[in-house]
Amino acid sequence: MGKKGPTLSKSDIARGLRELGLNKGDGVLVHSSLSSFGYVVGGANTVIDALLEVVGEEGTILVPTLTGTEHHGPTNPPVFDVKRTPCWTGRIPTAFMERPEARRSLHPTHSVAGLGPEIESLLEGHADSLAPCGLATPYYKLAAAGGHILLIGVGQGSNTTLHTAEELAEVSYHMQKEPTDCIIIDYDGTRHTKQMFLHQWGTPRQFERIDKELLDRGIMEMGQAGNSVLRLIRSMEMLEWVVDILRKEPRYLCE
Ligand SMILES: CC(C)(COP(=O)(O)OP(=O)(O)OC[C@H]1O[C@@H](n2cnc3c(N)ncnc32)[C@H](O)[C@@H]1OP(=O)(O)O)[C@@H](O)C(=O)NCCC(=O)NCCS
Repeated sequence: MGKKGPTLSKSDIARGLRELGLNKGDGVLVHSSLSSFGYVVGGANTVIDALLEVVGEEGTILVPTLTGTEHHGPTNPPVFDVKRTPCWTGRIPTAFMERPEARRSLHPTHSVAGLGPEIESLLEGHADSLAPCGLATPYYKLAAAGGHILLIGVGQGSNTTLHTAEELAEVSYHMQKEPTDCIIIDYDGTRHTKQMFLHQWGTPRQFERIDKELLDRGIMEMGQAGNSVLRLIRSMEMLEWVVDILRKEPRYLCE
């Protein structure tokens, strides 16, 4: 139960994040595994507090609060209630989106929760994006704003922004061909129907193959906190490089 390995406090985690290169004022999308650290005193909320401390009041933290499944599509539309639908991305995003001051974007499969001064503009419009991770979504907007992706104890397989690259490069295997009438229940309890294109599951990926290249190209830094391996990626540089590859070799990220 996360009790194996070292015991970490908020300051241990904050030190690891600063050594990695995370700074005051940064905007960062965080994919995480709580158990990767060892034992964290105070659990998920301690990790969130460490992240908020390092980026400071002028920084922005985003977490994926994903809810989509392989079964969603035109004949089985997702019903997403922003206040109630649980995410499957782990205990840290769950604790994060439960904070009263956090906001969550209105997307039925790929919502993102955030805290910080840029949050309104980053999350706004997700419900009107035809694709889950495209230009009008927090994934791309964070990259365009000079943001980072932080992987805490997880590998490139958790790097959702690689789906942004797939959407921008318009690879053929990634999107459903027919739109889905998705149901979104907003913060006021109002029910909206939005026609969107959802991801097509079932094509095995090998996202890990970009890991060494990102490091060699200086797009990613690696560090450690307790037993957790940390990766900090400059999001736009990663996108530009991967989109360029996918345009020449569309199945580069597939097994
Ligand atoms: C699936 C995933 C969340 C599992 O990681 P995990 O560390 O096992 O799970 P969580 O981060 O939810 O943390 C909960 C676990 O931490 C451990 N834990 C509990 N309290 C703890 C503490 N105080 N300190 C450290 N670990 C603790 C427990 O093992 C717990 O598991 P349990 O709930 O089954 O008892 C992770 O591997 C992952 O994939 N994360 C990224 C998800 C993502 O962003 N996906 C995007 C896809 S495109």
